[in-house]
Amino acid sequence: MATMSLFLMLLCAPALSFARYPNAPRSPSPLWRRGRNVPPMGFYNPTELGGSMLTIAPNTNGLGEPLNVIVSGHSDATVLVDSEDNGGLRNYFLSVGFGAECLGQHAGDAQTANLGDGKGQVNETSELRWDYGDPSLGTCTETIKGGNHFRYWVQDGSKANSGAIFMATSYELPIQMGHDIIFDGYNLGRDWLVGNATAQQSLIPTGNITNGTTYSGQTSFGGYTYKTDVIYLSGILSNSSQGVNHNVTVGNANTLPVDGYVAVMTISIVSEPQRTTSGALSIPPSVSWSMLAALLAMLAVSLSA
Ligand SMILES: *[C@@H]1O[C@H](CO)[C@@H](O)[C@H](O)[C@H]1NC(C)=O
Ligand SMILES: *[C@@H]1O[C@H](CO)[C@@H](O)[C@H](O)[C@H]1NC(C)=O
Ligand SMILES: *[C@@H]1O[C@H](CO)[C@@H](O)[C@H](O)[C@H]1NC(C)=O
Ligand SMILES: *[C@@H]1O[C@H](CO)[C@@H](O)[C@H](O)[C@H]1NC(C)=O
Ligand SMILES: *[C@@H]1O[C@H](CO)[C@@H](O)[C@H](O)[C@H]1NC(C)=O
Ligand SMILES: *[C@@H]1O[C@H](CO)[C@@H](O)[C@H](O)[C@H]1NC(C)=O
Repeated sequence: MATMSLFLMLLCAPALSFARYPNAPRSPSPLWRRGRNVPPMGFYNPTELGGSMLTIAPNTNGLGEPLNVIVSGHSDATVLVDSEDNGGLRNYFLSVGFGAECLGQHAGDAQTANLGDGKGQVNETSELRWDYGDPSLGTCTETIKGGNHFRYWVQDGSKANSGAIFMATSYELPIQMGHDIIFDGYNLGRDWLVGNATAQQSLIPTGNITNGTTYSGQTSFGGYTYKTDVIYLSGILSNSSQGVNHNVTVGNANTLPVDGYVAVMTISIVSEPQRTTSGALSIPPSVSWSMLAALLAMLAVSLSA
């Protein structure tokens, strides 16, 4: 009997090791299948690969916005999937307070960016807006009143497939004022997003950020709880205002329009919804079906022994 149990234990060793990593995706994400390769920093620096840390905004003669927030490729693979389902990226951003654009509308032409991953200059994947506490219609308020918003691109081309998400974040004025950016709106938009993503009780002091400043905290939506670890890095995004859209109104002699800090966010899933089938026993998400089957087999063997 003891030998039999040991044999079964060995058989389920892979299942047991899976259970030690409850955050592992249940099925391989498309990113893994395409051969994602994440460098230690969590992303490839676009400027070293012929890309740019500035987007290109349409009708501006090539001016753009800083890519000032990056979701690291070391984040939970589940979060790197551009989906509102199964705890994906859009569910994560709902937990931070950002939703899809008002009634699926998109105002204005797309911006483009070149992340140096071999895809060249491509349209934004999407644009998300602050939802004013209302995940279903709040982004309509943002479209009218202005507020925090960002466009994002995924670094997943064959030349640099980190899966990292590059975000151009800024705080915009109301629609009557042409959706220009508020004073210091690139740096403040970044820090208010980070403040919400890490559930800070007070504002992040933008002027006091240095290379290596960190913040950490948790947010929840749709039964998923996420932990976000942020590190600010300099030397990736230039603090120059050359080529920056709205550079004259967004900064002045004392406030650089772009302070040169990128907030790198590494997101992990702390807990996910319990999947219960009515009347059946509830299986914690960390217990895989193969492990359960093995346990039942062990029970059957011990009963028949
Ligand atoms: C990029 O976006 C513009 C609209 O802003 C659209 O006309 C164009 O077709 C898009 N390009 C691709 C490749 O989707
Ligand atoms: C969260 O975001 C809102 C909207 O941008 C902002 O008003 C608020 O100050 C932010 N909170 C923190 C702690 O940054
Ligand atoms: C920012 O730094 C200054 C100088 O070190 C300090 O006096 C101030 O309290 C800091 N502000 C915040 C909000 O941390
Ligand atoms: C910023 O800090 C990181 C380590 O956290 C370091 O690798 C990098 O060289 C620093 N950047 C600059 C511009 O000093
Ligand atoms: C802007 O960047 C340059 C070059 O990296 C650096 O020497 C300078 O200190 C930065 N200025 C500010 C105000 O951060
Ligand atoms: C704003 O950017 C334009 C285009 O690169 C540049 O010619 C101008 O000098 C910049 N202005 C400021 C105040 O930095």
